[in-house]
Amino acid sequence: MAAAAVAQPQLPEMPEVELAPARAGYASGGPPAEAPAASTRPGGKEICAAFNDFFLTPEFWEKHWEQYPYHFCAASAGQAANLLPEALCAHDIADLVRRSGSSLKMFRKGDPCEEENFLVGYLDGASMIVNQAERYCPSVYEFCRILAALHFHHVFAVVYLTPPNSFAVRIHNDDQDVFLLQVWGRKHWTIRDAPQLGPYTEEMLGKDEPVPPELISEPIMSFDMAAGDILYIPRGFLHEARTSSEPSLHITVTMPTSDYCWGVQLVKHLMQDIHARDVPPEVVKARNTRLEADSGAEDEAINTNIEDIFNHWESKISVDGVLEAFEQRMGRVNEGQERAHNQAMSLKPPRPQVTEDRRVRLMYGVSCWCEPDGEVAVFKRDTQRMELPIAPTAASLIRSLTARPQKVSDLPCVDTFERICVLQLLLDLDVVQLFTRGADERTLL
Ligand SMILES: [Fe+2]
Repeated sequence: MAAAAVAQPQLPEMPEVELAPARAGYASGGPPAEAPAASTRPGGKEICAAFNDFFLTPEFWEKHWEQYPYHFCAASAGQAANLLPEALCAHDIADLVRRSGSSLKMFRKGDPCEEENFLVGYLDGASMIVNQAERYCPSVYEFCRILAALHFHHVFAVVYLTPPNSFAVRIHNDDQDVFLLQVWGRKHWTIRDAPQLGPYTEEMLGKDEPVPPELISEPIMSFDMAAGDILYIPRGFLHEARTSSEPSLHITVTMPTSDYCWGVQLVKHLMQDIHARDVPPEVVKARNTRLEADSGAEDEAINTNIEDIFNHWESKISVDGVLEAFEQRMGRVNEGQERAHNQAMSLKPPRPQVTEDRRVRLMYGVSCWCEPDGEVAVFKRDTQRMELPIAPTAASLIRSLTARPQKVSDLPCVDTFERICVLQLLLDLDVVQLFTRGADERTLL
């Protein structure tokens, strides 16, 4: 569906239809309306147990961790290690994106996309990145927290959702170790050697400027990621991705490992220590001294100040103290993560949400028409008429809508996320009605 036209449909004869779709987002207060069906889908504990048992094997730690990338191919190794495809439906991801607020970034052909409604953005070819995505989805949150407690102190997730034929990720490396878990669709990855193993934040390549060509070696791995696959990229290895005619959703589980070293932690410990309340007055004076020096006398004073700071620090520094302070910092980070998650999950949706187990039908008295693979859908009620430009991929979905309630998951659409987006927009436009799962027409939402 062409989104620009969706945002401004021409509705000369249907004034009672609400033109502007409700802004994607949740109002504050109350529990989430309609949690996804818990039923038999794996939760965070099961997801983490499977990942830990079948991916983080002794062989992985010995041969791959912070040494060499690893592609776990579900087609040959089985689906047991990555349970996210079983755990997350398209409507879970719609719910996650809707809750994500400023953590959502949308891009169209590599450039930032300012579209406010992510449903419109996706249908118009925008790819999405949701940072700190664990805050917006219970099972991903639980997975990250258990994984952090088992191995990594602190873990966070990033969602990468791309429609078919969208922009690729250009070559770069990261200062973090990452696990990529493919949830649906397909994406092609190319991995190249790390110009430098274990880079720090300021040593990353390809973020602001292209990677210098002399640092780009021949690919060491090149493959498609399919649903159930897992890719481990140690920090420093160059990587790039290319999309195909398929949509793609992967979740990156990230460990901020460049922080987990003595160099960084000693600096943080020093900063924390010299800003503590109980430091001696000479250290307070020293830490507040300006950085300018244009005379020998001032140089001498500054030297004394620096010595005061180091003497104070040296008198208190210990391995146990640094480690304890590190654990405390990680504890505070994890507490903040928990607070943010609880707050995000307490928001409730402003309107009923389309889910795969609910049923939809055309609004009473509305009929619709479009050609097979057509690019326009026409909705009529009495003498009123509304034309919506659509993508040809949505034509069969639109054509299947009738006055009879049908389960969302039974309606034809190759891209299940596109199906949720189209139906949610039609619901927001009052063209379709939504019914609770397994109920009849009297349980209209
Ligand atoms: Fe990356």
